[in-house]
Amino acid sequence: MNIQALINTASALVAGDKGLLAMDESTPTCNKRFAALGIPQDEEMRRDYRALLITTPGLSAGISGAILSDETIRQRTKEGTSFVNVLIDSGILPGIKVDLGLKDMAEHPGEKITEGLDGLRERLMEYAELGARFAKWRAVFTIGEGTPSQSCIETNAQDLARYAALCQEVGLVPVVEPEVLMDGAHTLEQCSAVTEEVLHEVFRHLYAQSVILEAIILKPNMVLPGLACSEQDSANEIADATVTCLLQAVPVAVPGIAFLSGGQPAELATLRLNAMSVRCKSRLPWALAFSFARALQQPALEIWAGQATQVVAAQSALIHRIRCNQAARRGDYHSTDEHS
Ligand code: 13P
Repeated sequence: MNIQALINTASALVAGDKGLLAMDESTPTCNKRFAALGIPQDEEMRRDYRALLITTPGLSAGISGAILSDETIRQRTKEGTSFVNVLIDSGILPGIKVDLGLKDMAEHPGEKITEGLDGLRERLMEYAELGARFAKWRAVFTIGEGTPSQSCIETNAQDLARYAALCQEVGLVPVVEPEVLMDGAHTLEQCSAVTEEVLHEVFRHLYAQSVILEAIILKPNMVLPGLACSEQDSANEIADATVTCLLQAVPVAVPGIAFLSGGQPAELATLRLNAMSVRCKSRLPWALAFSFARALQQPALEIWAGQATQVVAAQSALIHRIRCNQAARRGDYHSTDEHS
């Protein structure tokens, strides 16, 4: 393991005002999003859509790394260039989602465990050979009656740490993604308490597994009220709650925190990231960045809707969202930017 190379990669992922493009939806999830828009759900359409994303002119001005899936990392454009080479040639670091998805946790109704540790070392070695420079593993936690349980938090945290250690061993930067879900009627305060507890447990296990914190990226949820909560807090309240929570639990050695969007409307995710930059950036030890899937892609996907004639319009919608989120990283975003 070349520690300095890992640290350099982690720093590059959150440098300046750039962010990560999460385009690692599993085949079933991608198909579900296609089905909702009447797009045929086959490998060719998934390939065409992902090719649209990575060949967007000017993508690398705002995107430092793109997270691919197992299908996508092996694909080529219609012209025959591998997706990995398209990214590398444009100066974007290729990444790969390596967890194998969520399974019901035994004896814990309503809770999920992330699978994928069996054979992970060998899979990581193959992905590194294919050109990946970083990886991603997502665990989820549901706030509800008695959840998340201590055992769900501990097991997922330990698995995240084992994954992260294996990544670093083969020279991949681990993106560590513990997601407290927005589903439910919980308050901002409840989300904050659970997120803080989860993060403490994740960092306890990362330490126990000797993970080099300077060479990871944390990908957490923002601290948000549940979708069904009657009180929906302002962007400033969300920004303050999120930053306060992260300051309690994330060591200063971590170079960057790149949020997932988690189903927030795209413009709100940007507004909330901007509020964090405006109110807190000068006193934070780590970079605050974005690693959105839906909040970057959804407008572009809806415009494309499977039509070859819509590729250019979809690409400009993607670039628009990226530019808005770059502005949010700088604390320069205004809702009026949406309509300029
Ligand atoms: P969303 O931004 O759509 O939550 O996706 C991020 C991600 O990578 C999910 O694992």
